[in-house]
Amino acid sequence: MQKMAKDSPFWWDSGYADHDVSCMGGPSPEIFEITPALRAKSVIVELGCGEGRNVLYLAQLGHQVVASDISEAAISKLNRLAGALGVNITSAVAPVETFQSPAYLDVFIAHCVLHFTERTIWRPLVTELMDRTRPGGFHCFTNTLDQADHPIPEESLACGHKKSFSRGELAAIYAQGGWEILRSDHYIKWDSHPGIPIHSHCIEKVVARKPIGSENLSRMRAEPIKAAGVIPAKQFDNLKLGTQRAAAIEMFGWPSGGQMMTITQKTVGGNNQEAISDGYVREDMIYGNHGLQFVNGTLAGKYRYFTPPKRLIIRDA
Ligand SMILES: C[S@@+](CC[C@H](N)C(=O)[O-])C[C@H]1O[C@@H](n2cnc3c(N)ncnc32)[C@H](O)[C@@H]1O
Repeated sequence: MQKMAKDSPFWWDSGYADHDVSCMGGPSPEIFEITPALRAKSVIVELGCGEGRNVLYLAQLGHQVVASDISEAAISKLNRLAGALGVNITSAVAPVETFQSPAYLDVFIAHCVLHFTERTIWRPLVTELMDRTRPGGFHCFTNTLDQADHPIPEESLACGHKKSFSRGELAAIYAQGGWEILRSDHYIKWDSHPGIPIHSHCIEKVVARKPIGSENLSRMRAEPIKAAGVIPAKQFDNLKLGTQRAAAIEMFGWPSGGQMMTITQKTVGGNNQEAISDGYVREDMIYGNHGLQFVNGTLAGKYRYFTPPKRLIIRDA
């Protein structure tokens, strides 16, 4: 099976076939951010979960996780990592197209997967999941958009990218349904994965929350991250992934703003190289409309924001 995955036309499968490396990195920041507002033992559904960087972290916090992916290599690695971390998850090799939702859920995550499905698939699915989500639940999406100056990368087209999202489409669906739009971010991200040295994506990230009603759950709000300073365009373009944090500070000075995500326990994707590591520190340093993402002190991603960078915090804390 591992050999088949290495020969797969899908670029991520060779990274999934290697159970010792991290293909996608650690948990996504918005997943980390919503955790203080979740009810205990939330039901979390992630489609296209890959090797499980989000669901494994959520399972470690005691939530009930249902995760699926079309890739056998992904689910095999996810199950192996769940065993290594000592967490229970419900997983399946299944395409989004045949997904059967549980009766209710609290969180839905689709990170860089629904753009591989047609609008005729994802729209009815989203509507059904909105109905089945309990009050105060979250839906978290990341999708890549086809933008003239940053078209969908060749390797994504080769994997069947459908260009099935336009900017603002998801937020409009949720706003119409009466949900709160906590984030609707638009940016370009440069990053790398095993076998993909560096590529850029035009990304839309949306976090929407169903009204809390009478539930006793914390409210959240998006807070802009202070973003003074500047990185000259040419220096930003030439800045190499792998640059050390200290070298970046020497070049650009201390950033006026940033976001820190620290996980102290054994976790997945610690440094974009090891599948499991002892702790994870992701630091986003913001300079004007540019962001530098350091993982354990090493530059793992670069951002150019069209919308101001934000973080989610508890509103009434
Ligand atoms: C770019 S990876 C993202 C993985 C994961 N969501 C993450 O953020 O780490 C895309 C994932 O979507 C999965 N995928 C692609 N098309 C799919 C489909 N139709 N149904 C389910 N999973 C799919 C792939 O196997 C792959 O794991």
